[in-house]
Amino acid sequence: MMIQATGLTHYYGPQPAIQDVNFSVEKGEILGFLGPNGAGKTTTMRILTGFMPPTRGKVTIDGHDVVEESLQVRKMIGYLPETVPLYTDMTVSSYLKYMGTLRGMPPKKIKGRIADVVDVCRLGDYHKTQIGKLSKGFRQRVGVAQAILHEPEVLVLDEPTIGIDPIQVVETRRLIQDLGKSQTVVLSSHILPEVSMICQRVMIIHEGRIVAEDTPSNLAQRLQGVNRLEIEVGGPINEVLEALRKVEGVADVSHSSSMGKPVFTVQARGGQDLRDEISRAVISSGWSLLSMQTVGMSLEDIFLKLTTNEEL
Ligand SMILES: Nc1ncnc2c1ncn2[C@@H]1O[C@H](COP(=O)(O)OP(=O)(O)OP(=O)(O)O)[C@@H](O)[C@H]1O
Ligand SMILES: [Mg+2]
Repeated sequence: MMIQATGLTHYYGPQPAIQDVNFSVEKGEILGFLGPNGAGKTTTMRILTGFMPPTRGKVTIDGHDVVEESLQVRKMIGYLPETVPLYTDMTVSSYLKYMGTLRGMPPKKIKGRIADVVDVCRLGDYHKTQIGKLSKGFRQRVGVAQAILHEPEVLVLDEPTIGIDPIQVVETRRLIQDLGKSQTVVLSSHILPEVSMICQRVMIIHEGRIVAEDTPSNLAQRLQGVNRLEIEVGGPINEVLEALRKVEGVADVSHSSSMGKPVFTVQARGGQDLRDEISRAVISSGWSLLSMQTVGMSLEDIFLKLTTNEEL
């Protein structure tokens, strides 16, 4: 196991920011932390990288304790913090050289690696520019560049695509996936499609706790039973709503309109298939059933469900 986190709990004040967080990451895996603002993603990452000791719990990187063997661990980790402490009066290349020296890289090696990361992060035109004069997106690229400079075995990236324009986002995602072929990557995001696109495994964090952990497709499948039916009914909205709600097994019915036609969304309890019952209820009331389709849950729905403690 490359990363092993056990019982991580952290208090900044009276309330825990994270509570009893346990997970492990295998070598070469890309794990995504997904969670809303304030969920505890950054806190967990600060602890993972040895940036801050946890109030309770323990993290090992390839068997090394991040608190007790912090120097050794730091060489193994590349960290893109939420706010990168960039020295604004340095140029991109002098900053990278400085970071390489700090990490004990041999000077000859540093030169070659700067050329590589400048290329990989598309900083070529800006390597002589003062960091203070760079736009937000380019500073973020410098942040990624310093994280991968020393070819760490483990990469911890806190919201790597934030502040980057859409074209660069695509490239950054591709870069992370490439890095993930040889390195172990942990990244955080609050963008669902991003995490499911890049990561092999997703950990959903909410209010400092892990509420779900699985592959993106398993997560979707696990709740696939929770089907919704979308039906178009020719009938008075309130009466239709009432009739549908009376059908055995229906958990919830809502209505919206699509191109002027009312559409009813029926949520079945416990993943039941209610197509038969629903069509009977509509037709026996004398209305016409214009269309019916099953809608699976998107990861977005799952996320909302998991983080709002709603009953499934
Ligand atoms: N330095 C700090 N001092 C006090 N409280 C903090 C500090 N950093 C974070 N917190 C609190 O800890 C909790 C978790 O915050 P954290 O930054 O880890 O969340 P996050 O998931 O990274 O959120 P975001 O998506 O907004 O970056 C929040 O309630 C936050 O207010
Ligand atoms: Mg954060």
